[in-house]
Amino acid sequence: MTFWPLLAAAALAGADTLTIPAGLDAYLPVPGSNPLTREKVELGKRLFFDTRLSRDNTVSCATCHDPQKAFTDDRPVGAGVGGRSGDRRVPRIVNRGYGKSFFWDGRAASLEEQVLQPIQNPKEMDLTLAEAASRTGVPVEKLQQALASYVRTILSGDSPYDRYLQGDRDALTAGQRLGLRLFRGKAGCTSCHLGPNFTDERFHNTGAGRAAGDGRYAATKDPRDRGAFKTPSLREAARTPPYMHDGSLQTIEEVIDFYDKGGKPSPSLDPEIRELHLTAEEKTALAAFLQALNGKVRDGM
Ligand code: HEC
Ligand code: HEC
Repeated sequence: MTFWPLLAAAALAGADTLTIPAGLDAYLPVPGSNPLTREKVELGKRLFFDTRLSRDNTVSCATCHDPQKAFTDDRPVGAGVGGRSGDRRVPRIVNRGYGKSFFWDGRAASLEEQVLQPIQNPKEMDLTLAEAASRTGVPVEKLQQALASYVRTILSGDSPYDRYLQGDRDALTAGQRLGLRLFRGKAGCTSCHLGPNFTDERFHNTGAGRAAGDGRYAATKDPRDRGAFKTPSLREAARTPPYMHDGSLQTIEEVIDFYDKGGKPSPSLDPEIRELHLTAEEKTALAAFLQALNGKVRDGM
């Protein structure tokens, strides 16, 4: 693993930069086998928007991961070639370069392992890698390295919350400051949504979902992992409904009510999920705080 000086590279990119969130190192972890270069990032960006990577030339990565929507869409589950529905909510892709595992169940250990899977997934792009390489003229390994490199450069920061941490007390409203105290205190959200990206990068069963779903169990076969999904980062979440791995909650208010009631009963419910007894004013404050995690999203070099 090598570390890429993010701030220096962001400066090279000119006006389209942002202040890296406090606590997120200025250094992005990058595997030694795929050093970040401007050439790879630029190729990766072109490929990300290239519909030739799908069987019927209608779907690109950006069809589901829309840059205007923090690299997600607004459907409960992804829509791939021929209108085929996927099984899960499209995750926002921001600050994933700092991620420890990928997909809702963490079945990919690196971005390099992740990025070729949507191309081959019959419900997403449904193309063989050989065909993808021949259509684009880019060998498979280069496709993989370029897409992973580009995804690494997609960052969110410069939110009111970040400005508040940097000492601008007025960046948060009084309601949002109350929400922050509740988030860390009475509501217990930081048991799981912690650190600069608001995620422990671990797996928990909150009881969310229409059917419990296997979640992490599919990757580990450990019965305690049934119904457990990866804690998502909450950056840009408030502006990108719907929520949870199956998109079953429509608004931030619904999510807060869900947690307030102690999630949904499930044999392997996480012990940190319990009734919260929040007042109406506290729920409003918590929702207002989550809005303060909407910042600026940048990509590329
Ligand atoms: C048809 C919609 C669709 C397309 C097209 C698509 N994705 Fe995704 N993407 C998803 C869904 C849904 C998930 C979550 C799937 C899961 O967890 O099982 C996901 C997960 C991811 C993740 C993991 C994020 C995380 O935090 O775990 C990354 C990275 C990603 N996609 C990148 C890409 C790239 C690169 C492409 C193009 C090669 C692409 N996606 C094409 C729907 C799509
Ligand atoms: C026990 C760990 C845990 C605690 C405590 C917790 N969360 Fe979560 N949170 C998760 C997991 C795991 C998910 C994804 C669950 C799923 O999709 O099945 C999630 C999903 C979310 C989502 C949806 C994000 C998205 O992209 O769909 C929001 C918003 C959220 N949590 C906010 C909160 C708030 C606010 C609190 C405090 C009231 C809280 N969480 C407490 C683990 C936790």
